[in-house]
Amino acid sequence: MKVLVTGGAGYIGSHTVLTLLNSGYDVVVFDNLCNSSEESLKRVNKLTGKTIEFVKGDICNATQLNTVFEQFEIKAVIHFAALKAVGESTEIPLRYYHNNVHGTVCLLEVMQKHNVQNFIFSSSATVYGEENDVPYVETMKLGTPSSPYGASKVMVERVMADFAISSSSFRGISLRYFNPIGAHESGEIGEDPKGIPNNLLPYVAQVAVGKREKLNIFGDDYPTTDGSCERDYLHVMDLAEGHVAALNWLNANDQFKGVEAFNLGTGNGVSVFAIVKAFEQATQKPIAFDVAPRRAGDLPAFWADADKANSQLNWQATRSLEHMMIDTWRWQSNNPNGYE
Ligand SMILES: NC(=O)c1ccc[n+]([C@@H]2O[C@H](COP(=O)([O-])OP(=O)(O)OC[C@H]3O[C@@H](n4cnc5c(N)ncnc54)[C@H](O)[C@@H]3O)[C@@H](O)[C@H]2O)c1
Repeated sequence: MKVLVTGGAGYIGSHTVLTLLNSGYDVVVFDNLCNSSEESLKRVNKLTGKTIEFVKGDICNATQLNTVFEQFEIKAVIHFAALKAVGESTEIPLRYYHNNVHGTVCLLEVMQKHNVQNFIFSSSATVYGEENDVPYVETMKLGTPSSPYGASKVMVERVMADFAISSSSFRGISLRYFNPIGAHESGEIGEDPKGIPNNLLPYVAQVAVGKREKLNIFGDDYPTTDGSCERDYLHVMDLAEGHVAALNWLNANDQFKGVEAFNLGTGNGVSVFAIVKAFEQATQKPIAFDVAPRRAGDLPAFWADADKANSQLNWQATRSLEHMMIDTWRWQSNNPNGYE
């Protein structure tokens, strides 16, 4: 079965491509490389010994997408391609809405034209907004995220829901990721942010490798166990396996029509201070940090209720926090400059 993976050269995409190939799926990656490098796919090719078809192109370009659907017999699409920096999205919101929302509509139109029904979307815990209590459950009403990035995810979920109502055959899954960290255990592929990392773990790893002087911990006076923010961190390989589980679920449920959402998380909140400590323990690398003022828009704590994915997709995040730290460090220390 051939799967089109948009954004497949990126962080989560490359780990998912590897897992798909190892699970017997054929993969076509479609990526404009705006936040990634083709080197990730070369490494996946080396690790799996399997061929990946790669097409450089933009999801906002229907002509390019059409060519891909004409060239390959695509049966399902896993859609990672998006811009994802929360802070940047408040500076250039139109670019985020164009890329993430218009780009997805463009992709769905081309899929419809080619009669491809199976669609798995990279959503995010951010869709629960500020209104909902933790843990987040899929039955909750979607919230109002504070950033254009978060809003773009809510909008795409709405697009999928409306499209499913109008279509007698669309089969959509929205995977709401919590906080993926870590890297493949080979240390060959991992997260390679361009510029200053927006996420905690790449920042911590860059301090450890000497590329950054100090970590800023934004706020130590939240109403949490130790005052710092708490998030539900999961290993990126667990997350990658969640996509294969979702695809297997679509294949096993051929009567399914509509859209289903699944949280992919561990079900546990871990604080920023605890992450720093876990990294230091796992790697024996001290992490210098300052406590900085709270950042606008940061929620104190959230984590997933992952029961639905556990029971229906038969999926569970199994890798430990220590495992996540060791794999992050293996990737960062073997590749201090990422894929460069
Ligand atoms: N990393 C996280 O913490 C996280 C959490 C929740 C959801 N997500 C979502 O998961 C997806 C993947 O995230 P990631 O961390 O791997 O990000 P990433 O930036 O590493 O990967 C995204 C990929 O999409 C490509 N891309 C972007 N716009 C494109 C376009 N118009 N056409 C073609 N390719 C395009 C980029 O070049 C990149 O390779 C995104 O949709 C993101 O919003 C990520």
